[in-house]
Amino acid sequence: MLFKQQVLLRQKLFVLGSLAVGSLLYLVARVGSLDRLQPLCPIDGRLGPHGQDEIPLRALQFKRGLLHEFRKGNATKEQIRLHNLVQQLPKAIIIGVRKGGTRALLEMLNLHPAVVKASQEIHFFDNDENYAKGIEWYRKKMPFSYPHQITIEKSPAYFITEEVPERIYKMNSSIKLLIIVREPTTRAISDYTQVLEGKERKNKTYYKFEKLAIDPNTCEVNTKYKAVRTSIYTKHLERWLKYFPIEQFHIVDGDRLITEPLPELQLVEKFLNLPPRISQYNLYFNATRGFYCLRFNIVFNKCLAGSKGRIHPEVDTSVITKLRKFFHPFNQKFYQITGRTFKWP
Ligand code: A3P
Repeated sequence: MLFKQQVLLRQKLFVLGSLAVGSLLYLVARVGSLDRLQPLCPIDGRLGPHGQDEIPLRALQFKRGLLHEFRKGNATKEQIRLHNLVQQLPKAIIIGVRKGGTRALLEMLNLHPAVVKASQEIHFFDNDENYAKGIEWYRKKMPFSYPHQITIEKSPAYFITEEVPERIYKMNSSIKLLIIVREPTTRAISDYTQVLEGKERKNKTYYKFEKLAIDPNTCEVNTKYKAVRTSIYTKHLERWLKYFPIEQFHIVDGDRLITEPLPELQLVEKFLNLPPRISQYNLYFNATRGFYCLRFNIVFNKCLAGSKGRIHPEVDTSVITKLRKFFHPFNQKFYQITGRTFKWP
């Protein structure tokens, strides 16, 4: 009897031991496969011999962990010097469009090991007071990075602010500019929803969207309403084109970034001359949020804040139709200039 119990106990211990060893082997293999998911090689043909925009791959395997500590301000000057870390001016800027998905784009690009994001909107070029502080002030606002990484910042107000193109041109005339757009009427409603939420937070009342978007005297679209004006993408882009050639812009489809982010991000990687490193592994759909969230590695993942993905108020369909008709010719022009066509109504 005692012997039988001992045999059973041994069998149980053996099974448990095998399970533990199995799990350990799985974890080791999983961590190893993370590296394999983002291989350093092969380097595809887009990385030409010694183009100015190239990013040497040897720098790419460094990134999180240590950089995170530096960002939190836990690094000493000596550590910064030892690791050769620098605060670099951005090589690419997400200039807009507000409510287009600018935060999602920045966070998703930051999944790339060669990209380091400026977390805050810096508002250097659109804010006269900040601009007067000079370019060194701006550089000091940038995160630490390895010399071969690129820094990206986003300030959506840049797209619509008159003075910004010239100011950015003066800093770097060959900078890469990212514009993320959504169907213009949806974007305008999203813009309104953000303002409405701000008013409600302060216990203030606010007009209905219909009242702001349509001029009560003419019954036409109210072009003085900022949310409408911002959605006339071509008008703003034309101002930028006085300084930068169209090749320096990349248009991101913000509606597609919501439903199918990876192909949009791969187009951006290509535009920035980065090796393709963001994979499906880095993006997973979170049904509770109703959006894609980010997976950096086996332990660290995150979704965007709740202020991204608000429920829009219902808007009168005749107003939506009127707005869509209004935006239509501007959209056509936008497609023509950018060479990117959308299925906007
Ligand atoms: P809504 O709040 O109208 O849904 P921005 O960052 O420029 O302010 O844009 C906000 C928009 O980003 C949100 O608009 C949301 O639809 C969109 N978005 C795109 N991808 C997202 C994601 N993965 N998580 C949350 N919001 C996302």
